[in-house]
Amino acid sequence: MILKRNIFQRLLGICATKKPADEGCWTFEAGTVTVDLARAPELAQPDGALRLEGKNLPARILVVKGDGDTWHAFKNRCAHAGRRLDPVPGTGQVQCCSVGKSTYDADGNILSGSARKGIVAFPITEKEGRLKIGV
Ligand code: FES
Repeated sequence: MILKRNIFQRLLGICATKKPADEGCWTFEAGTVTVDLARAPELAQPDGALRLEGKNLPARILVVKGDGDTWHAFKNRCAHAGRRLDPVPGTGQVQCCSVGKSTYDADGNILSGSARKGIVAFPITEKEGRLKIGV
């Protein structure tokens, strides 16, 4: 599948992934982000994603639901020039929203595009309906 973004979205660097409709679905404390999945329906399906920003986070975070029980969390800052990222449906990859289209694998390694290095992938686990992300 392809991440559909038009040239204007690319030029302006407008990412496809939204912030949570319910900002109360996540907290940040002592270096750990906790996401209550019951309050984050955006993450219910594979390739579902959210961007978490603010609340004194040291970095923007992109959370992506993978296949089955897999989860991914990335520092949401392209290694080329810092734009935000979006999941590429059906691939397990994430891609910069800008024209350079830097694309990274599920571990944050660079695959293609303008960037010359990878991005940070944060450790993420799920237990009893909650995600824990170490940042
Ligand atoms: S900022 Fe991501 S490719 Fe340029």
